[in-house]
Amino acid sequence: MLSERMQEALNKQVNAELYSSYLYLSMAAYFSAKNLPGFASWMTCQVQEEIVHAMKIHQHVLGRGGGATLLPIEGPPLDWESPRAVFEATYAHEQKVTGLINGLVDLAQEEKDHATVNFLQWFVAEQVEEEESASGALEKVKLAGDGAGLFMLDQELAQRIFTIPPVPSE
Ligand code: FEO
Repeated sequence: MLSERMQEALNKQVNAELYSSYLYLSMAAYFSAKNLPGFASWMTCQVQEEIVHAMKIHQHVLGRGGGATLLPIEGPPLDWESPRAVFEATYAHEQKVTGLINGLVDLAQEEKDHATVNFLQWFVAEQVEEEESASGALEKVKLAGDGAGLFMLDQELAQRIFTIPPVPSE
């Protein structure tokens, strides 16, 4: 059984993950409007990943006998100065999410909730990948500059495919 504190914190994280999907959906729309379909497709993969993250946490809450509190999802920004600014925001956002996950691990340890500590290890590892992927894309955008470089990078980013990650065992 989840403690009240743990349940509330996990439900907030569900909201944060859904906000992330909203943020990346807004970024995908930004790139579509800029005629960069590869960038838009890369962001759409992010959208789907974030929904999977939210669902995993939601299912963990229910699986541990907890209740879901579905909080309102804040509206994301709708515009950015440049593709580079989008990826700077993406990288900063993933760093923030890593902090949230670390905070959940700290709380689960405090609550002596070993099942949740174990469950969250998947997210700890996932955040390493999320940050790496965002900073890698940011570096490429910086190198691409404007014009032809951006067009080439658009084709590269179009190759990303969304795959459902393995479900952690509990
Ligand atoms: Fe759910 Fe991108 O972290």
